[in-house]
This record gives sequence, structure tokens and C-alpha cells, in this order.
Amino acid sequence: MLTKKMEKALNDQINAEFFSAFLYLSMSAYFTRKNLPGFAHWMNIQYQEESAHAMLFFNYVNERGGKAELKAIEKPDLEWKDSIKVFEAVLKHEQKVTALINNLVDISILEKDHATNNKLQWFVAEQVEEEAMHRKFLSS
Ligand SMILES: [Fe+2]
Ligand SMILES: [Fe+2]
Repeated sequence: MLTKKMEKALNDQINAEFFSAFLYLSMSAYFTRKNLPGFAHWMNIQYQEESAHAMLFFNYVNERGGKAELKAIEKPDLEWKDSIKVFEAVLKHEQKVTALINNLVDISILEKDHATNNKLQWFVAEQVEEEAMHRKFLSS
């Protein structure tokens, strides 16, 4: 069983991952409006990946006999100044998500929840990859 604290933190992460999906879908629409279909397609793939992350957490809460709680998703930004600003916003957002994942790991340690800690390690590695990828975009 998940502790209440762990369950709440995981439910917050389901929401955070769905928010990431919304943000990237909004960016995809921005690029479509700017007639940049390659970037729009790329952000659509990011939308799908973030939705998959949300589902990994959702399924995990269920698997552990917890109560998966779906909360209202915050409205993402609609406009950016230019393409560079979008990718800067992506990197900044991914850094924020990394902090959220690290906080979840901290909670799993405090709660002595080894199974959740193990599950989270995939996300720890994923965040390293995502941050590195977006940093590379911005420097190229
Ligand atoms: Fe994610
Ligand atoms: Fe991400």
C-alpha cells in the first residue's frame, strides 16, 4: 500500500505530467500557426510522451492499490515571442519537472517506499535525457 503522503505526491505528478502534455500541445499549435510543421510535429510527439508519463504514474497508483485522483489541469501559455523562446520555455519547464521528480524520490525515501523509489529511477534518467536534449537544441 502507498502511504497517504506518497499517494498524494504521485497524484500531483499525474497532474504535472498532464500539464506538460497540455503545454507542449499548445506549443505545437503555436508552431502550426507560424507555419513551422516540423516543430509542430516535434511538439506533438512531446505531448504524446508526456501523456504517456502521466499514464505511467496513473497506472502505478492503481497497481499499488491507491486512489488515482485526476485534478483540473492548469491552462498553458498560448503565445511566445519566437521559436527560440518556445524552446527556452521547454528547457525551463523540464528543469522544473526534474525538481518535482527529485522531490518525489525524497518522499519515497522518507516513506521507506522502495517500490516507488525503484519506479521513479526511470523518471530520474528520463529527465537527464530530456534536459540534455533541449540544452543541445538551444546551443545548436
Ligand atoms: Fe514527463
Ligand atoms: Fe518531459
